[in-house]
Amino acid sequence: MKVLIIGASGTIGKAVTKELEPYHSIIGAGRNGSDVSVDITSVDSIKNMYAQIGNIDAVVSATGGAHFAPLPDLTPELNEVAIESKLKGQIHLVLLGLDYMNDNGSFTLTTGIMMDDPIPQGASAAMANGGVKSFVKSAAIEMPRGIRINSVSPNVLQESLDQYGDFFPGFEAVPASRVATAFKKSIEGAQTGKNYEVY
Ligand SMILES: NC(=O)c1ccc[n+]([C@@H]2O[C@H](COP(=O)([O-])OP(=O)(O)OC[C@H]3O[C@@H](n4cnc5c(N)ncnc54)[C@H](OP(=O)(O)O)[C@@H]3O)[C@@H](O)[C@H]2O)c1
Repeated sequence: MKVLIIGASGTIGKAVTKELEPYHSIIGAGRNGSDVSVDITSVDSIKNMYAQIGNIDAVVSATGGAHFAPLPDLTPELNEVAIESKLKGQIHLVLLGLDYMNDNGSFTLTTGIMMDDPIPQGASAAMANGGVKSFVKSAAIEMPRGIRINSVSPNVLQESLDQYGDFFPGFEAVPASRVATAFKKSIEGAQTGKNYEVY
C-alpha cells in the first residue's frame, strides 16, 4: 500500500514508519518532511501536499500540537493552538484527502490518554483529542467507497518521558513500538470508527 505518514519524523511517526516500511511504500510528511512538506494548520498547504502525491491507500496523522498551561492561564488565543493543529489540522487531512483516497483505503488519526484520564495543564489538548475521537466515530458511518477511519489514543510514551514525564505521574508509559501496532491494525485490519487505546 502507498501510505502517507504526516509527522513521520516524530516519536510516534518514526515508530509507525519502522513498523510499516517492510510491507508498504511510505511517504513521510511534516513541515520539514523527508518526502513532502505540509503544515496541517494551513488548508492550502494540505491541498498542495495531496496534489503532489496523488492517490493513496492510507493516511496516518501522527501529529497535532496543543498548548499546555494551567487552566486559569489558558487564554482563548492559547487554546486556538490545539483547535488549529490537533483538532482542525487532523480533520482537514481527512476532508481534503477523501478525493485522493483509493477505494477501501483508511485514515488513522492520533488522540491521547489525557482525554479520558485528565492531567493538570491538559484541558486544551484533551478538548482536541475528544473532538477528533467523536469526529472519527461519526465520520466512519458516512465514509464512501469502503474507506475506513480510526484513531489511536496512546498513553505517554516511554520515549517521551524525559520531555513529558512530569505531566504524567503514576501513568504506566508504553513503548512507541506498541503504539505503532495499533496503527498497523487500523491500516491493515477491517475495523472502522474505533479509537484504539494503547494504555
Ligand atoms: N509522545 C507522547 O507521549 C504522546 C502520547 C499521547 C499522544 N501523543 C500525540 O501524538 C502526536 C505526535 O506526538 P509525538 O510525541 O510523536 O510528536 P513529536 O515527536 O513532537 O513529532 C511531531 C511530528 O509532527 C510534525 N509536525 C509538527 N507540527 C506540524 C504541522 N503543523 N504540520 C505538519 N507536521 C507537523 C513534526 O515534524 P516537523 O517539525 O517537520 O513539522 C514531527 O514529525 C501528538 O498529537 C501528540 O499529542 C503523544
